[in-house]
This record gives sequence, structure tokens and C-alpha cells, in this order.
Amino acid sequence: MGKKQFVNPFPVTTYLGPDYFCDRSDETSQMISNIRNGSSTTVIALRRIGKTGLIHHLLGKLPPEWKGIYIDILETETLNQFLNLLATSIITTIPEKSSLGRRFWSLLKSLRPVISYDALTGSPQASFDIKTHEVENNIQAILQFLENQKFKIVIAIDEFQQITRYPEKNTDAWLRSRIQQLKNVVFIFSGSQQHLMTELFASPQRPFFRSTLIMKLEKLNQVVYRDFIVSTFKRHKKIIAPETAQEMIEWTNTHTYYVQQLCNRVFASTIKEVTPELWKHQALLLLKEQQPVFFTLRNMLTNPQWQMLKAIAHEKIVYQPTAKGFLTKYHLGTSATALRSLKTLTGYELVIKDFDAQGVSFYSVYDVFLQRWAELSTQQT
Ligand SMILES: Nc1ncnc2c1ncn2[C@@H]1O[C@H](COP(=O)(O)OP(=O)(O)OP(=O)(O)O)[C@@H](O)[C@H]1O
Ligand SMILES: [Mg+2]
Repeated sequence: MGKKQFVNPFPVTTYLGPDYFCDRSDETSQMISNIRNGSSTTVIALRRIGKTGLIHHLLGKLPPEWKGIYIDILETETLNQFLNLLATSIITTIPEKSSLGRRFWSLLKSLRPVISYDALTGSPQASFDIKTHEVENNIQAILQFLENQKFKIVIAIDEFQQITRYPEKNTDAWLRSRIQQLKNVVFIFSGSQQHLMTELFASPQRPFFRSTLIMKLEKLNQVVYRDFIVSTFKRHKKIIAPETAQEMIEWTNTHTYYVQQLCNRVFASTIKEVTPELWKHQALLLLKEQQPVFFTLRNMLTNPQWQMLKAIAHEKIVYQPTAKGFLTKYHLGTSATALRSLKTLTGYELVIKDFDAQGVSFYSVYDVFLQRWAELSTQQT
């Protein structure tokens, strides 16, 4: 794949393989060790840090005798659709002609799904149209089948928070009790809605509490990311100075998706060597592209809310948003007004409350491009 000219080596929505993936070796080893010990892992992180990428990376690094199955359940709305997706993903992951494939197909046929073939890709799809308790029995039968194999099976469920929207009651309790009985089948859970994932796995009232090992995925190390960018450009016969890569990482706040997005554009528009002017121009173009979205957001907010967002964007991180100095500097009114604005902004996930290494909470603008854009508009007013 890497040899083809049209591949941009900085993917922004897909995982292209280990050559296009920076580091995460500690996290990958940790997850492999969890699997070996029969523990499931929950990956928790800010949006767009690289959870999905990491899962694909991990599945590619499993020992050859293990099997990895990935499902993204964002588009499922019922447990029945979950079953369909799980069954489909198993039949597309495991070759039909392998001995495991043959055994799985015969199990599947005994459950009597409708098998159809995708018109474009020709890949098989299984679907069941049955009552809830049959859905549960079928999921149970599939899990039990996988459990009886002689090797480890890893099932990664992405966008797992979606199960809280299923109309069936207590899906998490039911799934937890099934999963607990398995030793050979180990799960990786992840999801983009951090607050729901944290609620599902870290709240003592929820069934999944303490049932998995939680892994908080942090931002990549800046030096490692910088060297990765420099060597990726070099591998594709282009040049970027380490200082320039560093500036780009800082501008995007080491937030993976935004770093990738900027690198992707800069790579595409560089003939030979990246100049500081070139990357800054591309960065501005990215903000410009997003401008209509940002205008809409701004119109959604009241003036105090927008002023608060701009103030946080300008400061980058704010530890005490009701401190007098901060309120006065940005004309934010009383601390009660400020608190109300913050509540709305965090509710919309425009601003995020996070914790530093010491466990002290701070606020920042969630979307790096919005932060940069709001910061610019602060300078202009
Ligand atoms: N370590 C990495 N090195 C290079 N690219 C990466 C890395 N991690 C993630 N990416 C790429 O960055 C993009 C965004 O990452 P990804 O989709 O994995 O984030 P996410 O945390 O799952 O986001 P969301 O919260 O929206 O689900 C993807 O194209 C992904 O392949
Ligand atoms: Mg994801």
C-alpha cells in the first residue's frame, strides 16, 4: 500500500497499517498482556485521540494463533442488530474455508439467519429477525462457540456506549453476566463518548464496574510524534525540519486527529520541502474550511457563552474559570453567569473539563480547530 503514490501517509479517518501509525507500543503491549491474562480492557480517552486506530493496530499485532474481531456498533439500535453485526463480522473476518470458518458457518446455519451478499463487495451478511430472548440465546450460542476454541479470541466493540440506547432493558447487565463466564474470549471496549463510557465502566452502580481494566489513552509523546512525522515525510521523499514538525504539533495541541489532519494537508501540498509559511497557510485554510460550522456554533450561543468560549480559547487552559482576574480580563460578568455559561458549553461538549497529572481539573476548548479559530477572533476584536 505504501508504495502507491496516491496514498497520503497521514490518514485522518482510517487505519492504514503499522507503517502509518506512531508509537503506542506500551499501550499495545499492555493490552496484549491483559488478553493473555484473560482480562478485558476498556479504552477511555478524549475524542479523536486515536482509540479506534489503536484497536486496529492491536488486532494487527496479535499472536498469529489468536483471532481478533472488530465491530463498531454506532449504527446499531437494538440487540438484534448487535447480533447481526457480530455474526456478520465473524463470517467476514474468519475465512469460510478455514476449519474454524467451516465450524462457525455450520453453527450459524443452525441458528437460521438470512444470509445475503453485499452487491458491491460480495461479502456475506447475516441477519436474524427474531424475538428478544432468541436474540440473547443466539448471542450466547455464538460466544459459547468462540469460547470452545483452542485459542484466544479478542472481540473489540467500538462505540460501545451505544448499548445504553437499546430499547431492551439492562443490556449491560445481561452482557456483563455472559462475558463473565468466558475465559478464552476477551473483550476490548471503546467509545467516543467519554462521559458515557466512564459512567458505564467506572460507576459503582453499573454492572460493568470493575469488570474490565481501564486504560486511559493519553496524547502521544511530542518528541516521538515529531520524529515520526519527519521520518514519514522522508520515506516519501519529502523534507520537513524537526522544528517545523514540532511547531505543527504544538499548533494542533498534540491532539492526534488534528495533527494528522494538518500533516495530511501539508504533505499533500509539499513538492519537496515544508517551509514555515507553507504549513501556516495550510493551517489557515483548514480553519477557513471549518468557518461555516463555527459561525453556526457561535450563533447557537448567547453572548456570555461565546465570550467564555473565546476567553478559554485564548488562555488555552483555565484552572479557575470563576477567579476574579479571569472574569475581569475577559469581561465575563459575575461568577454565577460564568458558571452558567460553562455548564452550557460543557453540555454541548464545546468545552471539556479534564484533569492534569496532579488530578487538578481544568477547562479547555474541545475542538482544536475551534480553539484556534476563536483565539484568532479574540485577537481581531
Ligand atoms: N498513533 C497514531 N499514529 C498515527 N495516526 C493515528 C494514531 N492514532 C490515531 N491515528 C489516526 O488519527 C485518526 C483519528 O484517530 P481515531 O479515529 O483512532 O480516533 P478516536 O479516538 O477513535 O476518535 P473518536 O473519539 O472520534 O472515536 C485516524 O485516521 C487514525 O488512524
Ligand atoms: Mg473512534
